[in-house]
Amino acid sequence: MLKVLGIPGSNSEDSINALLVRYTLNLLKTKLKVDAQYSILDLNDYEMPIYKSEREVTGGIPDSAKAFVRTIGFSDALIMSFAEHNGNYSAAFKTIFDWASRVEQKVYHAKPILMMATSPGARRGASVLEIASTAAPYFGGRVVGTFSLPRFGETFDRTRNVCLDAEKSNKLSSLLRQFARTLTGEKIEEV
Ligand SMILES: Cc1cc2nc3c(=O)[nH]c(=O)nc-3n(C[C@H](O)[C@H](O)[C@H](O)COP(=O)(O)O)c2cc1C
Repeated sequence: MLKVLGIPGSNSEDSINALLVRYTLNLLKTKLKVDAQYSILDLNDYEMPIYKSEREVTGGIPDSAKAFVRTIGFSDALIMSFAEHNGNYSAAFKTIFDWASRVEQKVYHAKPILMMATSPGARRGASVLEIASTAAPYFGGRVVGTFSLPRFGETFDRTRNVCLDAEKSNKLSSLLRQFARTLTGEKIEEV
């Protein structure tokens, strides 16, 4: 069975990017009926010290970094959403990714990836999304599409778990159809 892994690029317990990942996986499962095993990776389960070359020499690469790379390797596709901190990755994601790249530079293992970002403001995490999607091929990532949702507090209803912005919602559905075709190689009947 296909394995689709969601990765929110945030360690916040109340992460809006985690909500967007959950929402997107749910669309893939219920709207596009992609038969897969769905799971979400929690960066908190992979917490490790900031990368430092001397640390690597003396203590080696943390087991959590190896586990992170393995988890990606076992999946067939990734749905990621990056928290933007000062225009860049969150420190939590960057730290894990830095160590992971020491395990294996092709961290993404040639997996197809839908890359997303959301933030409370109008800039919608555009900067981190650009950074992540531009860098992905270097790390063996095949970015199938990018999507960002601005003003999360207004465009997403947390109670009903729905996107309130019709244009953005249509854009995401269209990207997901393309993503699903990449995954299954089949024509997808939306329900
Ligand atoms: C240190 C810090 C820096 C931030 N920098 C940005 C930024 O550059 N652009 C932006 O859109 N939001 C920025 N924010 C706001 C985040 O987008 C917001 O905290 C968001 O909820 C993070 O996503 P998360 O909830 O998934 O962790 C920043 C927040 C923090 C704490």
